[in-house]
Amino acid sequence: MTTMTKTKPASPAEVQAPLAVLAELSHRCPLQCPYCSNPVNLERASNEIDTQTWCRVIDEAAAMGVHQIHFSGGEPTVRKDLEELVKHASDTGLYTNLITSAVLLDQKRVEKLADMGLNHVQISFQDSEAANADRIGNFKGGHKKKIEVSGYVRQAGLPLTVNAVMHRQNLHHLEDVIDMSVELDAERLEVAQVQYYGWALKNRAAFMPTYEQLSWATEVVEKARERLKGVLVIDYVVPDYYARRPKVCVGGWGRRFLNVNPAGLVLPCHAAESIPSLKFDSVKDHSLAWIWENSEAFLKFRGTHWMPEPCRSCDRREIDWGGCRCQAFALTGDEFATDPACELSPHHEEIFGLAAAEAEHEPPPFIYRKIR
Ligand code: SF4
Ligand code: FES
Repeated sequence: MTTMTKTKPASPAEVQAPLAVLAELSHRCPLQCPYCSNPVNLERASNEIDTQTWCRVIDEAAAMGVHQIHFSGGEPTVRKDLEELVKHASDTGLYTNLITSAVLLDQKRVEKLADMGLNHVQISFQDSEAANADRIGNFKGGHKKKIEVSGYVRQAGLPLTVNAVMHRQNLHHLEDVIDMSVELDAERLEVAQVQYYGWALKNRAAFMPTYEQLSWATEVVEKARERLKGVLVIDYVVPDYYARRPKVCVGGWGRRFLNVNPAGLVLPCHAAESIPSLKFDSVKDHSLAWIWENSEAFLKFRGTHWMPEPCRSCDRREIDWGGCRCQAFALTGDEFATDPACELSPHHEEIFGLAAAEAEHEPPPFIYRKIR
């Protein structure tokens, strides 16, 4: 610990441009994963911003110095203008990534997207075993389709990342998921752990692995990384509930990243709408640059001025920025609290003890994501 430094919100001149924009084109999705990172109250198609507005947002992002745009959702391929948006982003010089469930894609559309300048595709897999994968996503035939589309992606010459969300109901297949990624000729595998807010928090007891399962998984990843050097890069982070210090969520609030939701609201992270006290500005009313520099939602937790103890006097306060605000609110009801993933949080032991206890019981049935 070090002595407390008094800080204030960063002035616009001190704020660097974000590196990446997550463009959530739509919350519509044919799958219903119970760990979906979308908010529990999903935006309807009638609220989605139009092509022209997205093109303006893309131009504004490029002008700000943003490097990458991730087209995501829900399922971004439900938008018929995806090709147009990819071309527009590519023409402005942005690196374009498509984050997709892949179940609505065919070979022709993959080729068209590649022709429009798409740089990279990230396909989410629910498991390596078809029956369990289709059960988790609640979409029959989905796994088979994902395998086919992965082939089209590679045939189109696009690099592929397999995004596998792992938890107690598929972690035992981790070795197969790694083999599957190699067979699909992916360059990267993200062994993503469930992040417990929104839908996932509702389903926490169904997903939480035990500490023993997790230690086994860590060992599997370490051995595979060694064996597959130069073949497959594996990203793996220990889930928050078993960590000693929090993750650097979204690279620090309002520092590296912004998220434009389907209705045009600009959020500091994809789950920020779960914090009721935050007010978001819309691209319909302001430019992206104005929002990045002035929006109340970005200023509220940018930097260290807002921190209570123990973060305020901690020597990691400009490393992890106090952890995840959405998780702090979800677990303590106080968005200013130290992320309970941190061992220094007064809530750490109680909350994570509860979660570990949940992992020892039979998993309850899933509450599937749906638009109400
Ligand atoms: Fe320090 Fe706060 Fe980070 Fe914990 S969450 S390591 S107390 S800055
Ligand atoms: Fe919102 Fe971590 S998900 S700050």
